[in-house]
Amino acid sequence: MRVNSSSDRASECVPSRATGMEGGIVIKDDWPGYSLELFTYPEHYREDIESVYIPHGVIMDRTERLARHIMDDIGDHDMVVLCVLKGGYKFCSDLVEFIKVQCRNSNKHLETRVEFIRLKSYLNDQSTEDLHIIGSQDLSVLRGKNVLIVEAIVDTGKTMKALLKHVEAFEPKMVKVAGLLVKRVSNVVGSLPDYVGFEIPNRFVVGYALDYNEYFRDLNHICVISEIGKVKYKI
Ligand code: HPA
Ligand code: MG
Repeated sequence: MRVNSSSDRASECVPSRATGMEGGIVIKDDWPGYSLELFTYPEHYREDIESVYIPHGVIMDRTERLARHIMDDIGDHDMVVLCVLKGGYKFCSDLVEFIKVQCRNSNKHLETRVEFIRLKSYLNDQSTEDLHIIGSQDLSVLRGKNVLIVEAIVDTGKTMKALLKHVEAFEPKMVKVAGLLVKRVSNVVGSLPDYVGFEIPNRFVVGYALDYNEYFRDLNHICVISEIGKVKYKI
């Protein structure tokens, strides 16, 4: 079993490249993840993942903190949460639950409506050129509302920029973005989230609803896929 030394820590809590009051917990380039022996995970993925990159409990604690941050900023008005599917469904569901708890604890009576939009821009572990909005989305409910877009992962920000343009066409009063993960990439061309869970190196991760060709969404932790996994589920 590998034991982490003090120089082998996952993260540093320092400001990241992302904008906003708090750029997220920064996970360093050389963080290898935790040994699989330290956690439980579905047995059918034993060969397909290399390490546990961000454990489920850490995701939950960070999400709770983001919920507080969001409520402090925009929690005085009803909001429409726009969940970006499919990868964002777990983050969105947990974030909304934490927002509701914050509301109850502070005696606020806010309506949190949840809408969904489905996007696809990845094949295998590569980004494709095009953003596909799948299905015709009538988002007219966003008109005049405070909108919180909830997305699992942002890298160049190109998809987010295109999505913001799409959403703004429905004339919301205000739009903010919460992203669980922001990848540290050199070619940022688009928009970054206002609220960030973790800033991670530019590597492909799966789990907590993030997929590789639709696999691994059922993993609770965010993990690094193995070469065996990449080959096994390649299209
Ligand atoms: N994993 C899963 N989906 C993704 C990723 C990733 O690292 N980056 C963009 N979409
Ligand atoms: Mg995907």
